[in-house]
Order: sequence, then C-alpha cells, then structure tokens
Amino acid sequence: MAIDGPTAAGKSSVAREVARRLGYAYLDTGAMYRAVALAARRRGVALRDDQTLTRLARGLAIDFTGSPDGGRVLADGEDVTDAIRSPEISEAASRVSTKPGVREAMVARQRVLAAAGGVVMEGRDIGTVVLPDAEVKVFLTASLEARAARRHAELLARGLAVTLDEVRRQVEDRDRRDETRAHSPLRPAPDAVVVDTTDLTLEQAIAAVLEVVRRRTEA
Ligand code: DC
Repeated sequence: MAIDGPTAAGKSSVAREVARRLGYAYLDTGAMYRAVALAARRRGVALRDDQTLTRLARGLAIDFTGSPDGGRVLADGEDVTDAIRSPEISEAASRVSTKPGVREAMVARQRVLAAAGGVVMEGRDIGTVVLPDAEVKVFLTASLEARAARRHAELLARGLAVTLDEVRRQVEDRDRRDETRAHSPLRPAPDAVVVDTTDLTLEQAIAAVLEVVRRRTEA
C-alpha cells in the first residue's frame, strides 16, 4: 500500500496507525532521505556535490527496527531516530532528495523492502515510481494553512521556538521543491484516491484511509 502526499499532511501518523490496524509493516521512506542528509552533514559533504552524495546514499546502511509505534531508524548501526527530525535535517533532506543518484539508490532499496508485500509505505513517489503496482494508493493532502499549523504545533511541543509564519514559509518551500523537481516530482498517481485531511481529526483521517482500503480490496 502506498501513502503519498505533501509535507505535514499527517502521512506518518495515519500510515503508522493504518499499518498497525491492518497488521502490516510500516515503512517511512522520508526517514531514508533524512538519514542520507544527516550522514552528508556529519561528513561535511556539500549538498551540491551530486557524485559524493550518490556514493554516500549507495553505501549507507539504513535499517528500521522495532514496532510501528516505537520504530527506530539506524544509519550505519547508529540510532539516528531523533537526530533526523531536526529542522536543519528536514531542510537538508529536502535538498538531498532532488538528486537523481540519491533517489535511484533509495528507490532500489524500497522495492526490496516491499517485495514480500504486507507493507504500508509512506513517501512522495511511492504510488508513482517505487510501487506503481501497489494494491492501494492514497494521496493524503491538506491545505497549506492546516499543514503549517500542525507542523508549528509539533515543533512547539518539541520545545523549538518558531513562529507560524516561519513554519508556513518552510512548508511552502518544501512543497515547491517536492512538486517542481525534475526527478519524480510529487503528484498523485492516476489511480490514487485523494484524501483531504484539512477538516479531519487524526481518527477521521485513519477511518477515511481504511475505507479506501476496504473499497479497493472488495472491488
Ligand atoms: O516525509 P519527510 O518529511 O520525512 O521526507 C523528508 C524529505 O524527503 C522531504 O523533503 C521529501 C523527501 N522524500 C522524497 O523525496 N521521496 C520520498 N519517497 C520520501 C521523502
């Protein structure tokens, strides 16, 4: 199953819970781009150095451990779950994910991870590129205002002092980069069901996605 959509549309919370209720594995592909971005930052690789970034992306061991609720992300054996969530790494991941070489390395691994089936994979290009034959495809979206407000609340809860205006600008920047990059731009697959969560609670969004699954699997 593929769940794609723009930043802060609620993909992770929804995908994780949908996976849990279906008894499927959950895979957050954004975490993979984030792990590459963190490794690049730490090793002092310039974000415009496509060749070195590609080599790094091919060589970095990225592993997921634990349950869908408490899943951890390991990069070369180190637990980077928290380190990859900083605003700096969000920005770097957005840049790193525009590189074709990095994308190819990640997509190849994601296909291997999904090969056995029984997985809810979350990202930007899952329904269009990674798993074009996914049984169920959902494009989860929400208005810019709703997404900025949610991300703002999340950052405040983590103790980061940012204004709503700043967060809105960052979300807009990320949307622009995701939607206009030459390689695998963010867009709904032709056979994806669009779920707009602007006016939905988390529980309602989960129910809406489970309803898509029910309809697809009955069809
Ligand atoms: O979903 P996220 O914010 O954790 O993703 C981090 C970055 O990686 C984001 O800028 C978009 C990019 N990304 C991507 O290009 N393709 C994916 N399948 C997943 C994430």
